[in-house]
Amino acid sequence: MLSFFIKSTIFLLYSVAITSSESHDIEQRKQMSDPTSELSNLFWFVQVTDIHISKFFAFSRAPDLKKFCLTHLTNIRPDFVIVSGDLTDAKYADTRGSKQFIEEWKLYQRTVNDCKQAYDTTWFDIKGNHDAFDVPGDFDKRNLFRKYSEQGWTHPSSYSFTHVKPYGNYTVIAMDAAPIPGPRRPFNFFGYMNKERRMKLQDLSQQAMNSSNMTLWFGHYTTSLIVDAEENNIRNLMKDAAYYLCGHLHTLNGLLTRMYTRHNTGTIELELGDWRDNRLYRVLAIDNDMLSFTDVKYGEWPVVLITNPKDALFTSSKEPTYRMKNSTYIRILVFSTAKIQSVDVHIDDKWIGLAHHVRGPLYALKWNPASYLHGLHTIKVTVQDSVNMLKTVKQDFSLDGTVTSFPFLAKMVLTNNIYNLTQCIFWMLILIYIVLLLMLRLLNNIQVMFIQGQNVITRNVGHFINIWLLRLWLVTKIKSLYWLFTLFTLYVAIGPWFIADVLEGEVGVLFVWGLYVKGTLLPGCLAYLYGIFHIVLFNIPLLLMTGYIIHYTRQMSQKHHIPRFHKLKHIYIPFLSLVIVNTLIAITEFPAAYGSKAMILGPVRTGSIFVSFVAYHLAQKHALAIPAFHKVDKD
Ligand SMILES: *[C@@H]1O[C@H](CO)[C@@H](O)[C@H](O)[C@H]1NC(C)=O
Ligand SMILES: *[C@@H]1O[C@H](CO)[C@@H](O)[C@H](O)[C@H]1NC(C)=O
Ligand SMILES: *[C@@H]1O[C@H](CO)[C@@H](O)[C@H](O)[C@H]1NC(C)=O
Ligand SMILES: *[C@@H]1O[C@H](CO)[C@@H](O)[C@H](O)[C@H]1NC(C)=O
Repeated sequence: MLSFFIKSTIFLLYSVAITSSESHDIEQRKQMSDPTSELSNLFWFVQVTDIHISKFFAFSRAPDLKKFCLTHLTNIRPDFVIVSGDLTDAKYADTRGSKQFIEEWKLYQRTVNDCKQAYDTTWFDIKGNHDAFDVPGDFDKRNLFRKYSEQGWTHPSSYSFTHVKPYGNYTVIAMDAAPIPGPRRPFNFFGYMNKERRMKLQDLSQQAMNSSNMTLWFGHYTTSLIVDAEENNIRNLMKDAAYYLCGHLHTLNGLLTRMYTRHNTGTIELELGDWRDNRLYRVLAIDNDMLSFTDVKYGEWPVVLITNPKDALFTSSKEPTYRMKNSTYIRILVFSTAKIQSVDVHIDDKWIGLAHHVRGPLYALKWNPASYLHGLHTIKVTVQDSVNMLKTVKQDFSLDGTVTSFPFLAKMVLTNNIYNLTQCIFWMLILIYIVLLLMLRLLNNIQVMFIQGQNVITRNVGHFINIWLLRLWLVTKIKSLYWLFTLFTLYVAIGPWFIADVLEGEVGVLFVWGLYVKGTLLPGCLAYLYGIFHIVLFNIPLLLMTGYIIHYTRQMSQKHHIPRFHKLKHIYIPFLSLVIVNTLIAITEFPAAYGSKAMILGPVRTGSIFVSFVAYHLAQKHALAIPAFHKVDKD
């Protein structure tokens, strides 16, 4: 009886204990929100850009990519790989001429096939400007991207795919912005969005909207270098994208290795440095619908990516970042070729603990986000592997939405519309040039414009300005010179720059506002930049020099003794230097890219050389015919 009583009491207590502990467990699991300590709601993928496989230079670009697949992809095991353009280099050995080379494309194809053999995954590639040099159309046989890239055959232009996971759908839209027809270099440095392409992208974007947890876009060009002919704002088109991944600008010659920004639409743009020279690649992870990424150099291990809490720099209104507040674990992806020994976590310089290995590359450490609810905090993760490679990653995070700001230069490069900017600068220069000459010509007495200095400094500055005003005024007083300068500058703005084969066997005409080829107008962009250079390197220096020559000639005419070599030093050498520089530009740049026609039928560049000599001749001839203004004319 007693034993029965004891037994049943024990049983009773035991079952109560069990149920209570069970219910406690369930309770805890309910409270426990993602991100948790399980390898769930998390996947990762890889981006590579600007590979530039070339048959003329740096033959290791393709073999290194293959090695990357063998040693990196097999280790990282991404869900897919995206390649954002410039798969091949498509430039001749002189780096000026351009054309699609079948050898380069075959090597790209072989490399990707070898990669897939090593690690079977899907490659999503898209055209870059180099892949569109000298390509008349998407379905033309000269479009080797179509035949030899991974996606080209099914998707000659923009496309999308949805990565379906048990916990959500993730749509990636590949944007093709390479101009069609694709001129030979350099006139497709800017991307171009026409109506048809925009509509296609709009469709893809709308399809993705209702059934995707997140939409990402990727393409070759930065948004600052894409011209949208009608709406003129590519960023509105991709406003539903949480991120836009691109390449094209490489690292701006090492100036900017982290070129990221956030647009007004909320989309975050992430430019990735090139594979070509820098062998960079990017690992991106989407953890509970929040994206984190790291840009890494090929061969550097371990690769460490903190996915929770995510970097405050990339706080996004398009992601459920509020989840970080309720998360129970710090989550870190660690990839390494060696065994990981420790994953050490500090927050605000205080040691939090060692993250434990969950599964695959995931490490987790329990944390209490309530301690960090306000403002910015810093998380530091130090990983040590068995070959004693140390890697420390430090990033700011915030749970209340505090954001840190992007570096100024990156913002400037990515958020501007460079097309509008160059257009604006070009027309301003033209306007100032022409109006200034007109005003001076209308002036009968230049001395009314002169500055009188009060002290030594203002006197000197005043003198400098006065003398150059006088020289410019002298130029405008010679009617033929005035018209020569005004009309030639107007011509740069309105006339054709050259007529040449902008594609092989396809004649095109370049104006500053655009390139006419195959019945299509590709908007100006780069031509405005060339226009600015031309005004600054030719029109302005020649104007100043002509004024100088006239002034000099007038002064020398009053002197009895002129030192030997005086004219050589003051006139001949500067003038000839200007002519030589401009001749070099005229015979190299465009003719090298588009053939000798560009030189023969090149009124702007080739015309400049003639204009220089005509200006010199007119200056010499008429210098003494202008009535003198002795007071200032002398000094
Ligand atoms: C994806 O979206 C669905 C529907 O909105 C949601 O139930 C699911 O939790 C999301 N997935 C993740 C990982 O957040
Ligand atoms: C997507 O959802 C919006 C409302 O949220 C609805 O108006 C629209 O028709 C939906 N589109 C599609 C393609 O289902
Ligand atoms: C994912 O897409 C499928 C259709 O492909 C749809 O039925 C499902 O609801 C989507 N899931 C989410 C979370 O939107
Ligand atoms: C997050 O936790 C707070 C309490 O800490 C709770 O009030 C809130 O409902 C939770 N939010 C979610 C989305 O679970």
